Amino acid sequence: MSPDESGGVRRRLPRRALGFFPTPVVELRRLAARLGGPRILMKRDDLTGLALGGNKVRKLELLVGEALEQGCDTLVTGGAMQSNHCRQTAAAAAACGLGCDLVLGGERPEVPEGNLLLDLLLGARIHWTGPLRKGEKIPEIAARLRDEGKRPYVVPYGGTGPLGAAAFVDAVREVGLQLDRMGCAVSHVVVASSSGGTQAGLIVGRSACGASFDIVGIGIDKEGVGEEPLRERVLRLAGETAGLVGCRGSFSAGDAIVREEFLGAGYGIVGDAEREAIRVVAETEGVLLDPVYTGRAMAGLMGMIRAGELTRADTVLFWHTGGTPALFPHARELAGA
Ligand SMILES: Cc1ncc(COP(=O)(O)O)c(C=O)c1O
Repeated sequence: MSPDESGGVRRRLPRRALGFFPTPVVELRRLAARLGGPRILMKRDDLTGLALGGNKVRKLELLVGEALEQGCDTLVTGGAMQSNHCRQTAAAAAACGLGCDLVLGGERPEVPEGNLLLDLLLGARIHWTGPLRKGEKIPEIAARLRDEGKRPYVVPYGGTGPLGAAAFVDAVREVGLQLDRMGCAVSHVVVASSSGGTQAGLIVGRSACGASFDIVGIGIDKEGVGEEPLRERVLRLAGETAGLVGCRGSFSAGDAIVREEFLGAGYGIVGDAEREAIRVVAETEGVLLDPVYTGRAMAGLMGMIRAGELTRADTVLFWHTGGTPALFPHARELAGA
């Protein structure tokens, strides 16, 4: 069954329900008035529900579905100390009665904050890897778990691979139905893009739905994943994801719009642009963005409006991918905002 015929890839791939779907779509009228640009809608994937939510819950529904089907007893993944993906993986493991081992960059802090605090409350075992913050040691930890007699399931860095990305094919169908009901058509989707899986899935979903809006990925991390530039990674993943879900899968460079001029001083470093974006959205809409991903993505959207690239003729859907637990460890940089 293709996603076009079946009503969603969820029917084809094993899936464990973890979140609350559909997430709401809201219109941000006060923000749009403040910015003086396009109509702005927001997809609230910060409200996916599992242990403070976020975009990774969608990916984890499919990844955990596969883990359970394979009879695994432990989820292993990795990321930065304040990884939202790791926190959502720890929550998914807890919700399914699985163990969880997290391979985190940095050194154990004296007081755990934000996502790390939640990881610990959710019962995850942490392995510290100093400068390696992209799950480089996941295979080593998984091998150690196998030696201990466990059956680990490796959740890739960022939950990103064709299976994780496939969740966003369904997400496009979900939002398409919501927009139809609202009588809206969007010209652009703007989303934070880091390991690239979310954007890749959205691109495949757009193709599966026969839609034509631009999908603008705002790059978050200067360093990228491995040697592969983000745009190439997104395109490769889109092709692989289309193959997995069985829909049209040839994408060209123009399908993956990646903007990397909003990277500021680097991953997780809050600058004036993120501070302004977080403050303006909070003040005008009562909606909280996060300092690492959605704050930067909104700064990108605001930059595009200022540059005249997005105008009153456009309707933009900003995909809120979550991450708000990381506000608290950044209190110092944000409090003066
Ligand atoms: C809050 C938030 N937004 C966006 C992303 C980026 O998603 P992806 O890794 O699929 O590009 C992440 C990834 O960790 C995230 O935590």
